[in-house]
Amino acid sequence: MSTTHTSERRIATSVLVIGTGGAGLRAAIELAERGVEVLAVGKRRKHDAHTTLAAGGINAALGTMDPEDSWQQHAADTLRESYFLADPAIVETVTKNAARGIEDLERWGMPFAREADGRISQRFFGAHKYRRTAYAGDYTGLQMQRTLVRRATELDVPVIDTVYITRILVADGRVFGACGFDIVDGSPVVIHADAVILAAGGHTRIWRHTSSRRDENTGDSFRLAALAGGRIRDAELVQFHPSGLLEPDDAAGTLVSEAARGEGGILRNALGERYMERYDAERMELSTRDRVALAGYTEIAEGRGTPKGGVYLDVSHLPRETIFEKLPRVYRSLIELQMLDITEQAIEIAPTAHYSMGGVWVRADDHGTGVDGLYAIGEASSGLHGANRLGGNSLIELMVYGRITGEIAAEYATNLEHVRRDPAAVDEARAEMQGFLAGDGLESPRRLQRELRNVMSKHAGVVRSGDGLEAGLRELDALEERARHVTAHPDIAGFDDLAHTFDLQGSLLAARATLESAIARTETRGCHNRSDFPEIDESLRGNMVWTREEGVTFEPLPEAPESFRDLASEAADDSPVGKLVE
Ligand code: FUM
Repeated sequence: MSTTHTSERRIATSVLVIGTGGAGLRAAIELAERGVEVLAVGKRRKHDAHTTLAAGGINAALGTMDPEDSWQQHAADTLRESYFLADPAIVETVTKNAARGIEDLERWGMPFAREADGRISQRFFGAHKYRRTAYAGDYTGLQMQRTLVRRATELDVPVIDTVYITRILVADGRVFGACGFDIVDGSPVVIHADAVILAAGGHTRIWRHTSSRRDENTGDSFRLAALAGGRIRDAELVQFHPSGLLEPDDAAGTLVSEAARGEGGILRNALGERYMERYDAERMELSTRDRVALAGYTEIAEGRGTPKGGVYLDVSHLPRETIFEKLPRVYRSLIELQMLDITEQAIEIAPTAHYSMGGVWVRADDHGTGVDGLYAIGEASSGLHGANRLGGNSLIELMVYGRITGEIAAEYATNLEHVRRDPAAVDEARAEMQGFLAGDGLESPRRLQRELRNVMSKHAGVVRSGDGLEAGLRELDALEERARHVTAHPDIAGFDDLAHTFDLQGSLLAARATLESAIARTETRGCHNRSDFPEIDESLRGNMVWTREEGVTFEPLPEAPESFRDLASEAADDSPVGKLVE
């Protein structure tokens, strides 16, 4: 990597990775191990990337607890629970390679929870047939991120985690780098690269209650890919996790891990009823996430919720040692945020926007986006989760496709003979940034973001309707108009306000993709509940693919391969009875 220090920083590398969470680091590690020059940049400190919040675990059919498990069964569970909207080839790739992902982490020192005889422990997560979720207490993502940071450091992978990327640079349909700025000192940054891997997360921060923090998952990946010529798949398919905190207001939506239910936690409404009996008497609290979230939503909407608009999740009947060993983060978060002791009291929760199951359209074999040299991985990408993601599948996905895409990008960059750089593309990116700094508009990015989150929560939450979504679009039109008058005001503390301004641009684009795709999906399937179309429409078994220019087009999906097609179609037999970890 060479750097010229001028007021504008110019950097050249072979492969640029945008995002320093688990997906980005895994890809960067693969590139470095293959001797390919790589640079990873991100807008959050790498030790505190969003991956650190992933709690409950990472899936692979290791069979350490249930030896009858297999990758085919993992694939079948994933496909069935996606309501058959997952790309079968992506499902096959992830589940077949999952054990390798765990091996990589083990080799690099990941401290998995283990049984007394040394086997990796695996816990039961909702809608899995077997126990296949490996974990590290409820700090699995944090331990993974630490492991990946350590490995990247051993390999001397350069990481700059104060750079906000505003544009991916493209000439003649081929990537040649990216532009951005340093969030600390504001200096513009131009990075020339032969290939770019986009790993900058999803768009769940555009809802009011979300398990993402302030500057995470603001739709940056959607915007970067869309402006570079990529497409967005299934933006409407957003997983609402059943258990987000209600308070305090500035942390509303903070996750209470599914591990709490996996370890035996019980859900009750304000009347004290164990309400899951009405929604899924067999699987109860360990039903699928979409069903548990809809159940909580319904209890609250029908007046059986708490005065604050929640329901209760209770683990106080569990042995204290189980809570400290298996749910330490939940224990600590509740003490810190609410001074509530979960060994004695129930937690007040409500559904929270948790995961973008849609994202940038990618091919199954290499996660190429269709723009030469541009790849997307992790939550930025799409294709594995369909209309309902199995808990624990996102961490394994980033390990599998981080590695594969790193390998493919290494080959691509190594074999590339010629790259054209287009000065006009760089000028356009510079002008956009300067425009936000030099304007005299009166709008504030943070205020508009707050208003956008209200719009999305009101019109595109757990339950949606055509009329509501159309109303959301009209309100979005008005916000987009006001966003033309935003001016960023960096101050002595840094250029965060410019970062928020670009976050807003990403969020507006992601909101439009979401609302338009949700309007087009005239059915109820998994997480997507249309009150005006309450049934599944089999003719819509496929993906909503969105571009700024053309709006939404529908792409049907291929059948799953024989190896797991029949297993996926069998009636689900995934009762948690006898499988809880205690
Ligand atoms: O509830 C959880 O621990 C979340 C896990 C996941 O989303 O994979």
